[in-house]
Amino acid sequence: MKVILIMVQSINGKVRLINDKNQVWSSPEDKEHFSNLTKEIGIVIMGRKTFDEIGKPLKNRLNIVLTGEPEKFEKLEKKYTGSLYFTDEKPESLLNRLENEGYQTVALIGGPTINALFLEKDLIDEIYLTIEPVIIEGDLSLFSYVQGIHRFKLNEVSSLNNDAIILKYQKTTKAGKSE
Ligand SMILES: NC(=O)c1ccc[n+]([C@@H]2O[C@H](COP(=O)([O-])OP(=O)(O)OC[C@H]3O[C@@H](n4cnc5c(N)ncnc54)[C@H](OP(=O)(O)O)[C@@H]3O)[C@@H](O)[C@H]2O)c1
Repeated sequence: MKVILIMVQSINGKVRLINDKNQVWSSPEDKEHFSNLTKEIGIVIMGRKTFDEIGKPLKNRLNIVLTGEPEKFEKLEKKYTGSLYFTDEKPESLLNRLENEGYQTVALIGGPTINALFLEKDLIDEIYLTIEPVIIEGDLSLFSYVQGIHRFKLNEVSSLNNDAIILKYQKTTKAGKSE
């Protein structure tokens, strides 16, 4: 099972604005890139706080939301039967289950708490990181915590528009080779 982390950050390495959450700081091109890539993959995994901010499941994708209290969301799951699931499964067992269900790749879409959960178990295979040309009053960065060193290889740099770029990284083995 391949896990691709897809995130957007500012020049100063922040992934959200502290105050005015309605103010837009990422580009329309990044939104389009996110939408196209996650639809192609077909399945997104996110933390409950990220889901709360999005407000509803992403269309045409299977949405899996990690929470410590999945039972609280039974009604919402019913409302979006087949496209939205809340779970407290551990990342490895969730990925094993999804693999057994036929998925080969999943998109991990944040936030930093859930990103850290997957990184700590070395489960992130690729990272698609958009850098927007803004410096923002932000608090969170890509991972809420990191232990040790996790090495990645830069596979590709592409332009989204005149200003924003996407950095594509791939996990390397301890010997420094791409997996
Ligand atoms: N720039 C970007 O690309 C980007 C992308 C995504 C999100 N974000 C930002 O990230 C922010 C949210 O990030 P966050 O780190 O605060 O929260 P998060 O990772 O979205 O969600 C955290 C929640 O996940 C659940 N959780 C944590 N550990 C778990 C575990 N071991 N098992 C099951 N569930 C677990 C808990 O839900 P319960 O409390 O329900 O138990 C926890 O409160 C948002 O404000 C959003 O703007 C930015």
